[in-house]
Amino acid sequence: MNILLIGAGSVGQGFLKVLALRSQSLQESHGFVPRIVGVVTRSKGTLFDEAGLPLDALRTALQNGHLDLTLNSSTVQRNPAIQTILQHSAVDIVVEASPTNVQTGQPALDYIYTALNHGKHVVLANKGPLVVDGIGLMRCAESVGKALDYEATVMAGTPAIRLATKGLPGAQVTGFRGILNGTTNFILTKMSEGGSFDEALAEAQRLGYAETDPSGDVDGWDAAAKVIILSAAIFGVQLTFEQLSVSGIGELTSSQIQQAKMERKRWKLIAEGTREGGRVHPVALPVDDPLANVNGTLNAVTYTTDINGDVTLVGAGAGGQETGFALFSNLLEIYEQFF
Ligand SMILES: NC(=O)c1ccc[n+]([C@@H]2O[C@H](COP(=O)([O-])OP(=O)(O)OC[C@H]3O[C@@H](n4cnc5c(N)ncnc54)[C@H](OP(=O)(O)O)[C@@H]3O)[C@@H](O)[C@H]2O)c1
Repeated sequence: MNILLIGAGSVGQGFLKVLALRSQSLQESHGFVPRIVGVVTRSKGTLFDEAGLPLDALRTALQNGHLDLTLNSSTVQRNPAIQTILQHSAVDIVVEASPTNVQTGQPALDYIYTALNHGKHVVLANKGPLVVDGIGLMRCAESVGKALDYEATVMAGTPAIRLATKGLPGAQVTGFRGILNGTTNFILTKMSEGGSFDEALAEAQRLGYAETDPSGDVDGWDAAAKVIILSAAIFGVQLTFEQLSVSGIGELTSSQIQQAKMERKRWKLIAEGTREGGRVHPVALPVDDPLANVNGTLNAVTYTTDINGDVTLVGAGAGGQETGFALFSNLLEIYEQFF
């Protein structure tokens, strides 16, 4: 299985780490030999070799901030055009982990259409293309008979998409309610412990959970992107941001949070959806709701089913290795189905 990796930051390198950790055992148990044939970045350029790149040397170079590997290969290409290597016959699968643009989905959206239309499977960590045109991409993948998998985009390595779409055969998921943004959950947890919003946000930034501009998380747009992705995956519906009602946690005060505690409630930023639409809004949940006790950067989702009641899944919602693991687990599924 020859892999072209687009984006080699925290997630791309997490994926390479999981690949390195698991390659020996997978070769022994499944005869599965994944091989990286190319890596695309923005500032470090692109490296491509249809004969395969040495995984350990590649990881070391990326950790040192470059892609200048010494290679004795006659087929190596440095900085080829991305659109050309996306079409290369040596590539079986494209793993997309470049930055998210939820307005245009680009440049990843173009990369993915090119890959699918040239017979490559695609695995995504990048939410942008799915938010903009998830249903279009799913239809394209189906029409060319290739996989389009995106477990990493919602709750990282915690299998939220797999549980809803494959984990409850015979039941119908009629709705979901979740804590799908770890940064806001961390801030609400800290506020519930007595801190102010500003103190909690500063700590989230210091620990690397929140961006310098935290508005995408705090105002609810990251959670809304995940509502759009889950709605496409579960209900086959392409929502837009304009169709969602989105409010974040910026208006919540410390006194509201302390008041809720006295009433045995916990404020959470809830992202929810049904076939009819979706919403992101802060809710004071009673403490006996499973989501009320999900704290810190943890994420969770409760699926409502027609014949099996509610099912709740809790786990990490971000992290380079966790998200890299989600990409890897999709890769394994593709291997089992297609190779
Ligand atoms: N981090 C998480 O926990 C997490 C969880 C779920 C999903 N995601 C998603 O996973 C993706 C990657 O996240 P990350 O944290 O790994 O980001 P990151 O650390 O910023 O890495 C992004 C990588 O993409 C490369 N890149 C930038 N622009 C590009 C372009 N136009 N074409 C090709 N490559 C480009 C960057 O190149 P340089 O190396 O030259 O900068 C870098 O290697 C994002 O879409 C993110 O939303 C992340």
